[in-house]
Amino acid sequence: MSSAAGAGFAQRGAAAVHDKIRGPIQRSDRMLAIIGGSGLTQLSNLAIVRREVVRTPYGEPSGALTYGSLCEEPVVFLARHGYGHTIPPHLVNYRANIWALKQADVSGIISVASVGSIRADLAPGTLVVPDQIIDYTWDRKSTFFEGGETPVKHVDFTHPYDPSLRQRLLLATAAVGELAVDGGVYAATQGPRLETAAEINRFERDGADVVGMTGMPEAVLARELELPYAALNVVVNYGAGRADSAAGIIFDDIETVLQTAMSRVRVILEKLCQV
Ligand code: HPA
Repeated sequence: MSSAAGAGFAQRGAAAVHDKIRGPIQRSDRMLAIIGGSGLTQLSNLAIVRREVVRTPYGEPSGALTYGSLCEEPVVFLARHGYGHTIPPHLVNYRANIWALKQADVSGIISVASVGSIRADLAPGTLVVPDQIIDYTWDRKSTFFEGGETPVKHVDFTHPYDPSLRQRLLLATAAVGELAVDGGVYAATQGPRLETAAEINRFERDGADVVGMTGMPEAVLARELELPYAALNVVVNYGAGRADSAAGIIFDDIETVLQTAMSRVRVILEKLCQV
């Protein structure tokens, strides 16, 4: 990948538009939800108050909702892949998860997820707060509006992430002395397999910066239920065929990056309540 492709990122149209839609930070007295992905099946700094098993019209969420407090602010945590990390990305019951969080009356959702990097300058360990999505997933239940009794609703998804929540994430990151890349295009893939090198090349041509398996339909389901949603992506590897992954993805390396990075993520999440 050319360095120009990486360096040009800040001048992209999407980033410019994002600046225009940056509004004032909105805070709510209601609790935030955190959905943790690989490497974040529990929040060790969460002071747990109770766990609740929730049933929804869409089936069971990935696990019990864990209520507690982070820096004395109420938070509800859900492990996307289950607490034993047993649910693969294509089988996560995204609808049940988002529905359960809506029922819990959360003010918004922070989604934490590991990603592969498509850009040379996004090395493993980099944090990204994406501002766009391209959805390559298929055969997932991706809407609450399935006809029948419910009137069809077409949600606006021009800007898939909530600007205010994104800003809070960026501020919290800076406040703990970390750096997160502000903006990026998240390519949502079906998984559970990783990509071919040609697929990563295609995603790059499409304009994607990072690739992950769980960002969709999670983001659009949150939008359908009018829940502000933002993502904190942790780069844990270069995408297939790129840099260290030229000859293949090395899973031991991913694990090491994941553990270290998620400790940093926990610190950032704890700061969220102060920004
Ligand atoms: N591809 C898709 N999802 C991922 C990757 C990747 O390389 N790394 C972490 N999640």
